[in-house]
Amino acid sequence: MGPGDLEDLLSSLGIPRNESVIVGPGDDAAIFEIQGLRLIQTIDFITPVVNDPFSFGAISACNSLSDVYAMGGKPLSAMAVVGFSSCDYGTEVLKLTLKGALSILERTGVSLVGGHCIDDREMKFGLSVTGILNSQKILTTKGAVEGDLLMITKPVGVGVITTALKGGKIDEDDIGYAKRWMMTLNEEASLRAINGGARACTDVTGFGLLGHAYNMIKDSGLDMVIFNDSVPVMDHVFEFMDMGMVAAGAYNNLSYLQDKVQFRSSLSMEQKLLLTDPQTSGGLLIAMPEVGLKIFQGLSHWVIGRFQKGTGRIIVE
Ligand code: CO
Ligand code: CO
Ligand code: CO
Repeated sequence: MGPGDLEDLLSSLGIPRNESVIVGPGDDAAIFEIQGLRLIQTIDFITPVVNDPFSFGAISACNSLSDVYAMGGKPLSAMAVVGFSSCDYGTEVLKLTLKGALSILERTGVSLVGGHCIDDREMKFGLSVTGILNSQKILTTKGAVEGDLLMITKPVGVGVITTALKGGKIDEDDIGYAKRWMMTLNEEASLRAINGGARACTDVTGFGLLGHAYNMIKDSGLDMVIFNDSVPVMDHVFEFMDMGMVAAGAYNNLSYLQDKVQFRSSLSMEQKLLLTDPQTSGGLLIAMPEVGLKIFQGLSHWVIGRFQKGTGRIIVE
């Protein structure tokens, strides 16, 4: 397993090239041109990360919309993708989940236009989202140039916190801060990235900060230097890691990246696992020319690295 696996598989199938496909498999979302209009299309669904169904619906909606924002787009419509054990009856749980999603969609002016449910013992919920570009600019994952800075717009550690929640180390009432981050839309960050002249962008989800960062420089003539001590971390994350609360995905991500990342020798195992901690509805990773940085004033953002000439590797300092 590794970042972009299904996308890599799709790319390897030799799907006939259609000139309407402006961005195909391998980016956060696809862009398909129809009668001069560039549509953004994406789908994402997840298993519950919190117990409260309304919050889960809202978080999953933010997570699904994020891929549109990562392309520099504006979401317009969405369809619900549901796995649930009593599709046929619907229950209060499913209703609350959908209401949670709607609370986010209404805030962003996105219409929920349909959905599909299959019988599934482990609940799944997400959205397939259609949008359009905000400007002529497409924020692809690749496109950074030497000297660009790497920015992130949310702290990491969600995977550790939700693992601690599942492990009974913390009550849901006490993770309000993590829930608020997951319910924070990447909309404003995306708009500012475009206006600030961002050269590349992706969002941080299941493959962790390093997994998604790697996609920005993979097979390129650039290396990415990450300043470990500048990476923002959510509260209590190190305490939970000390208790062994690390998501299995963090280990998988780290093992996939082992030969692609050069870690500072003094970095602890915990620090490495935090950099590969799977995020739900994580922040945007943005490659910005330094002159564009001031546009982020007043919005959460951290400069965590820079791009330099190289061979497609990450160096964590
Ligand atoms: Co993405
Ligand atoms: Co995605
Ligand atoms: Co992008």
